[in-house]
Amino acid sequence: MKNIAVLTSGGDAPGMNAAIRAVTRSALDEGMTVFGVRQGWQGLVDGQIRQLNARDVGGIIQIGGTFLGSARSAEFREEKGRSKAVRNLAQLDIDGVVVIGGNGSQTGSYMLSQLGVPVVGIASTIDNDLLGTDISIGSDTAINVTLEAIDHLRTTGSSHNRAFLVETMGRDCGYLAMMAGLAGGAEVISTPEFEVPASEIAKRLHAAYERGKTHAIVVIAEGVKENAARIMAYFDAEKQKSGFELRATTLGHVVRGAPPRAFDRLLATRLGVNAVKSLSAGLTGVLVGWQKNEVTRTPLADIVGRTKPVDTELLELARILAK
Ligand code: F6P
Repeated sequence: MKNIAVLTSGGDAPGMNAAIRAVTRSALDEGMTVFGVRQGWQGLVDGQIRQLNARDVGGIIQIGGTFLGSARSAEFREEKGRSKAVRNLAQLDIDGVVVIGGNGSQTGSYMLSQLGVPVVGIASTIDNDLLGTDISIGSDTAINVTLEAIDHLRTTGSSHNRAFLVETMGRDCGYLAMMAGLAGGAEVISTPEFEVPASEIAKRLHAAYERGKTHAIVVIAEGVKENAARIMAYFDAEKQKSGFELRATTLGHVVRGAPPRAFDRLLATRLGVNAVKSLSAGLTGVLVGWQKNEVTRTPLADIVGRTKPVDTELLELARILAK
């Protein structure tokens, strides 16, 4: 393998830059030429591809997002778009592609590998809903940012006898909300896997108030049907008295754009280096992930179109500990 391309696709994640750096520099070390594709799959279709050297990826390990840019591409989902992408790769004599991204992106990787292009995926999404990895790049930082927000809200909540609803990202997966809620000692955690209705939230807040708490935190995952706005509307309409005054904060993209913490930089570095090793070893159609404390490779065919379930036992633990 002489020439490889690297791209980031889907929602950006803290640590993507560290992964691009690891891919680029380890490939250069193996004597390969490296190309960076701008704007994910869309850039591959449009031919936005340029050579990367060691200096191009300098000074980025600590920066969130992706300096290559990312996009969700409707064109690549069509056969015509994929054929264009394959032609663009052939024109530059690129014989391997590394794709850094989550579920949708790795479905793209699988499709490209089915067209005969050697492809290796790197697990990266703050949602941590990708099979083939225990943890994906970006997720730990997103948990920490959510946790920091929870800690701040708890402090001001205590000063004013308030309860806070904190809504965090995660698409249809409750992992981020569950982990940040558990680490932040939340009174209630509501996720798509275990949704807590507004009426039950009101009951639990009231009980917490009666037990003498001076604050309460309710963590809501983005994917629940009764999101923070609806819960607030319920409390307004029912003139619910939970004891606390209730306020809501939606974190949204704040949790995605943060600088990567050490864990994500190290994970991205390990996975990036291994992705290049996989391509050199002639492995294709695999996802490089992190399972049971080591780097693993899982066939993309086994993971695409499915999502990793969250551990609902941890949710039960959070409920027990919210005494
Ligand atoms: O998949 C990552 C993620 O941040 C999800 O948590 C969220 O639902 C989605 O992307 C938001 O996507 P966009 O930035 O395109 O609105």
